[in-house]
Amino acid sequence: IPQVLIRELLLRYHFQKTKLKMERNNTITEIFDGIAIITINRPNKLNALNRETIDELHYTLKEISLKKSAQVIIITGAGEKAFVAGADITEFKDFNVEQASILARSGHQKLFNYIESSSIPIIAAINGFALGGGLELALAAHLRVASLNAKFGLPEVSLGLIPGYGGTQRLTQLVGKGRSIEMIISGQMIDSKKATEWGLVNTITDPESLIDECISLAKVIKSNSPLAIAAAIRAINANFKDRVNGYDTEILEFSKCFGTDDFREGISAFLQKRKAKFTGN
Ligand code: COA
Repeated sequence: IPQVLIRELLLRYHFQKTKLKMERNNTITEIFDGIAIITINRPNKLNALNRETIDELHYTLKEISLKKSAQVIIITGAGEKAFVAGADITEFKDFNVEQASILARSGHQKLFNYIESSSIPIIAAINGFALGGGLELALAAHLRVASLNAKFGLPEVSLGLIPGYGGTQRLTQLVGKGRSIEMIISGQMIDSKKATEWGLVNTITDPESLIDECISLAKVIKSNSPLAIAAAIRAINANFKDRVNGYDTEILEFSKCFGTDDFREGISAFLQKRKAKFTGN
């Protein structure tokens, strides 16, 4: 059976339980059981990120967060070939210096920084090419799960550019300066096996198990306190912020937990030898 068919069947199995489905021009969002799956849906353009897709992703993430409609978000790409093959090159081919600066800054704010600082954990389900802005999207996510056929690269130097959506910073944070420089100045792709060895992805799976693997991970995460998870994300992110003392942030976030219902529930459940039921309050 072709891989694409198996993946389709698995998605359909999960989506039977879909409670909410939002279809926009370039994205499909399906939410069931506290887990949102956002599929970037431009397979004919290898899911390249044009401005409209970035806006849709921004509004979708914002809506999920405001309505508290999911506790974990999975972002993936449509089709079996690409997660996201980069920013949409056709959109910026005639840009000047100022327009390029506006494009990059707006992308950082709306999507890449937005994902990184999301209180709801976001998993990138990397189902194929993750290139340029696609790899940068995956790097901004909190976790990366990749299929064995995925390929990772920041090929911008081959276009006379450098990564502009956070790649020079986040790749370096994740894999170290030596490997980051190697990937960025060679512009070459690496495969899933190397990406795991380098710590670029958390887990690799067969292509047909990718969504299932992400859902299993999401279920484990969402059994924990959403408030504590959000606090942990803030404290970990503080490590990478200039002029912020991460230890101070940790002390602050740790102590704030003691004022929450989730903390009281977590401790009571442990002492009563039962499973905690967190409300996120
Ligand atoms: N922006 C805009 N369109 C893109 C794109 C991007 N980043 N990546 C792929 N596409 C489009 C192609 O132009 C093509 O469209 P067309 O059918 O209308 O001509 C379609 O997606 C399929 O891509 P194609 O190149 O034919 O597939 P392939 O299997 O031969 O090659 C890649 C796959 C990923 C190697 C190749 O598409 C590629 O190098 N893409 C650009 C990657 C990149 O440089 N990203 C960083 C951008 S800053």
